[in-house]
Amino acid sequence: MTGEPAGTMLYEGKAKKIFTTERPDQVLQYFKDDATAFNAQKRGTIADKGVVNNKVSERLFTLLEQQGIPTHFIQRLSDREMLTKKVTIVPVEVVVRNVVAGSLAKRLGLTEGAIIDPALIEFYYKDDALGDPLVNDDHLRLLNVATPAVLREMRDLGHKINAVLLPFFKQRRMLLVDFKLEFGVFHNRLILADEISPDTCRFWDQTTKESMDKDRFRKDLGKIEEAYQEVLKRVCG
Ligand code: TMP
Ligand code: ASP
Repeated sequence: MTGEPAGTMLYEGKAKKIFTTERPDQVLQYFKDDATAFNAQKRGTIADKGVVNNKVSERLFTLLEQQGIPTHFIQRLSDREMLTKKVTIVPVEVVVRNVVAGSLAKRLGLTEGAIIDPALIEFYYKDDALGDPLVNDDHLRLLNVATPAVLREMRDLGHKINAVLLPFFKQRRMLLVDFKLEFGVFHNRLILADEISPDTCRFWDQTTKESMDKDRFRKDLGKIEEAYQEVLKRVCG
C-alpha cells in the first residue's frame, strides 16, 4: 500500500481525505478503504475499495470530459491518489435514478426494479447532522445554498451525465440503476466533483440483476470485494 500524501490534510470524509498540494488551486484526493452506511451508523472496511474507486472515477471523469462535461479531475497520481481542481462544494447531493431502488422504493412504496424513463432527479441537502434530507428547489433556495440557475444547471448536467454513463455501462453488461453526483464551483464555473464509483452508484449485472456496488455492504450480501473488482475489470479492463 502506498503511504499517505505529503501535503496538509484539509478534510477527512467517510471515504476520502483531501490534502493540499504545491498549488493553491489544486488538491489531492486520497481514497480510503473505509466504508460507512446509513449516515455512518454502520462501519467497515472493503479491501482495496480505495484503489477501485480511484481508478473507476478516473475512467468515468475522463469519459465525461471527452463528452464536454467539465469535472475537477486532473490526473490519477497513484493507486489511491487523484489530483483535482480545488472547488467549493455545493452542499447538494444530486441523485439520478433510472430504476426504482433504495430510498425511493421505501419512501413511495414503489416496486424495486421498475424502469424510470426519463430519469428522475432528486436533490438532498448535504448535512450529516440532519441525515442529508431530501429537499426540493424551494427548500434549497430557502437554505440559500444554491440559486435557481445553479439548480437548473445541476439538473441539466445530471441528465447529460446520465446520457453518457447509461450506454457506457450497458456495453459492459451493467444496468446503471442510480447514482449520486456532487458539484463544485471553480473560477465561477460549476463542475462535477467528488467521485463516481461503486460507492456512489448502484449497478446491477444485466443478466443476473445482482448488485455490484456498495449495496452488498449496506445489505450484508457478501462477496463485496469481488463485486468491486468485477466493476474495475468491466470499467477499466
Ligand atoms: P438512496 O436510494 O439510498 O437514496 O441512494 C441513491 C444513490 O445515491 C445510490 O446510487 C447510492 C448513492 N448514495 C451515495 O452516494 N451516498 C449516500 O450517502 C447515499 C444515501 C446514497
Ligand atoms: N455514505 C453514506 C454514509 O455512511 C451512506 C451510504 O452510502 O449509504 O453515511
